[in-house]
Amino acid sequence: VKLRKSGRSEEEVLRELEEMWNSRIPYERVFSSMCTKPHPIAVKAFLLFIESNLGDFGIFPSVKELEDKVVSISAELLGIKKFCGYMTSGGTEANIQALRALRNVKRGKNFIAPKSRHFSIDKASDILGVEMKIAPLNEEYQVDVSALEEMIDENTFGIVALAGSTELGQIDPLEEISKMASECDIPVHVDAAFGAFVIPFIDELDVNFSLPSISSISGDPHKMGMSVIPSGILLFSEEKYMDAIKVRTPYLTTKHQYSLPGTRPGASAAATYAVFEHLGKEGYRKIVERCMRNTKLIIELMEELGFEPVIEPKMNIVTFEMEDIDRIREELKKRRWLVSKSLNPLGMRLVIMPHVEEENLKLFVEDLKRII
Ligand SMILES: Cc1ncc(COP(=O)(O)O)c(C=O)c1O
Repeated sequence: VKLRKSGRSEEEVLRELEEMWNSRIPYERVFSSMCTKPHPIAVKAFLLFIESNLGDFGIFPSVKELEDKVVSISAELLGIKKFCGYMTSGGTEANIQALRALRNVKRGKNFIAPKSRHFSIDKASDILGVEMKIAPLNEEYQVDVSALEEMIDENTFGIVALAGSTELGQIDPLEEISKMASECDIPVHVDAAFGAFVIPFIDELDVNFSLPSISSISGDPHKMGMSVIPSGILLFSEEKYMDAIKVRTPYLTTKHQYSLPGTRPGASAAATYAVFEHLGKEGYRKIVERCMRNTKLIIELMEELGFEPVIEPKMNIVTFEMEDIDRIREELKKRRWLVSKSLNPLGMRLVIMPHVEEENLKLFVEDLKRII
């Protein structure tokens, strides 16, 4: 494909794009994604701020104000009183930056992450040129804290824990990890990319994010926060971690930058602020309750087919052990259903996002029944 010598009409180009867009499997039939349709107010706010650049916010001072508000609303939601932070492009950037900050502060050569980590942690290890040690899990698929402790050595600069693992939505024992890490003087990064905007709305999940050795937490409004892509948050417990990833920015209207990208969308800050303000805690609670009701429903329907969930779901992610998941997944795709595959253990992973309807879950299970 080459850039045309002379352009085509707007109508023609948009028609082509529309056809491409319409060829997808619509979100209603997608049970494999941690992203969802953004809330309409987020889309409107995004379009309003489409020109803005958070990477040079002296030109658009209001986007910096919006970013600061999003960061502090997120911290309050997670029960964190002392914090600093910024908006990332999502969980991957947040994980890379959190580990970069810990490495720069502690000057170590390795970090430890659970077997259940997201693959963005592997990217961080590669980019930072540091060793990643992998801690085993217990039978509940949480990190095994005593094994984790034994892996710490004099070069360890940090630990990663999960609050909402990608495959199972499992939460690592944060209190126990924090206690052990405090004794060893090792900071902990909590990856709550998925969990940050679910956990606060499920009363039974009494998770304390404000523990002494938790040095950073990441959470993604572009997942359960109903905002647009890209929209992530990284919170640090102390300025020294932010300072450790600070660079001077000559040529710009600002003096420093903390983010991995230079130019980045101020529109994301506007969109996330808009959806936070519009939904409030009550709005989010209703959305999460519906997702949890649908998660319970799919478990009941799958149990009728003889499948049990690997763990009792903590949030709206549920995984069923399934030997021939590859074949089943292919067959489901032919019927225009998307599900994902878990590796540990091998199975079918379903993420019951706000776009998932009760009616579609029933239709899905009917198709699955025919396939198996
Ligand atoms: C636990 C966890 N961390 C990080 C990420 C990466 O997030 P993103 O794809 O927004 O970079 C994901 C994505 O699924 C995740 O589940």
